[in-house]
Amino acid sequence: MSSVKTEDSATGTGVVNDGRLVYKDKEVNENARPEDLSEMLAAGTKDVHDKAENTQFVKDFLRGRICKEVFKFGAVALYYTYTAMEEEMERNREHPHIAPLYFPSELHRHEALARDVEYFYGGNWKSQITCSTATQRYVDRIRELGRDDPVLLVAHAYTRYMGDLSGGQVLKKVAQRALKLPPTGEGVHFYQFDTIHNAKAFKQLYRSRMNELELDAETKERLVKEAVKAFNFNIEVFQELEELGKTIEEDVLDGGPVHGDIQGDISKCPYYAAKMAASGGSAYACQMAMSVLRNPTGQVLLAVWIAALAGLTAWFFM
Ligand code: HEM
Repeated sequence: MSSVKTEDSATGTGVVNDGRLVYKDKEVNENARPEDLSEMLAAGTKDVHDKAENTQFVKDFLRGRICKEVFKFGAVALYYTYTAMEEEMERNREHPHIAPLYFPSELHRHEALARDVEYFYGGNWKSQITCSTATQRYVDRIRELGRDDPVLLVAHAYTRYMGDLSGGQVLKKVAQRALKLPPTGEGVHFYQFDTIHNAKAFKQLYRSRMNELELDAETKERLVKEAVKAFNFNIEVFQELEELGKTIEEDVLDGGPVHGDIQGDISKCPYYAAKMAASGGSAYACQMAMSVLRNPTGQVLLAVWIAALAGLTAWFFM
């Protein structure tokens, strides 16, 4: 799939075209002042935002090249991240810098992610999931801030929620199409903000609440630095998911144990298809032959086929 076109008028977000998410209606606030926290965050994270956009994982995702296994691990990573962030926001909800940005019914993703993870892993999902190394580092930082420096949670909330509100609908459609998920929303509740009807207006409200926080210049600078950190935590999780995708791909090619553990038709995995296309027809034929030879049933069938061929040859020359 080279391009997926979709749009969301409420968010002003636009189309995914050749792996690039193109925003049709980039927001410009004419009344913004450079010392506004929202402006400082947007400007200060621009470079790392570009870096996040250009990670291989994100580019592949936007092209619809994502395996269900990798997507499931991504949902688990988000589940741990949002659980930590929202518990810490909840614990500090009376804090003067957190209270104005505390929007549990509009923003909180914990419940939505629990439903998504349950959809993918079934009723006993809690006993099946674990927190990955990169996610644990991200979670540890959020917990540390919730305990010792709650104002910096603002940077984490900004990085995730503003990003989610900017591209959620597009990513939801990409995932539904690539993974053939039901159109009724199972597995992608995370992307759906049911109580926000106009994401663009909500983002404006969120920005103005950030700008009204009583903060000195030094704290604003610390917030920008923390937001850059938050982006980097996300990038590390993306890199981890990218590596996981490669392992699945390798195991598919090796016909190894992980392949056996995956349910469903692995040949439908876009990573697999992409690898097959890249390696060319003869390599694909070779891989097929090797996997037939590794399989006991394949070996018996091959032996029968050779015996039949030998019999036919003998009969022909008699
Ligand atoms: C392909 C990947 C991505 C693309 C193409 C993309 C693109 C954009 C664009 C164009 C906006 C501006 C929307 C507007 O004007 O309202 C935006 C906003 C934002 N995005 Fe992304 N983004 C991507 C991934 C991410 C990721 C991975 C994160 C963080 C984890 C993120 C966090 C944000 C944030 C915090 C904002 C709000 C910026 C602000 O207005 O202050 N984005 N994104």
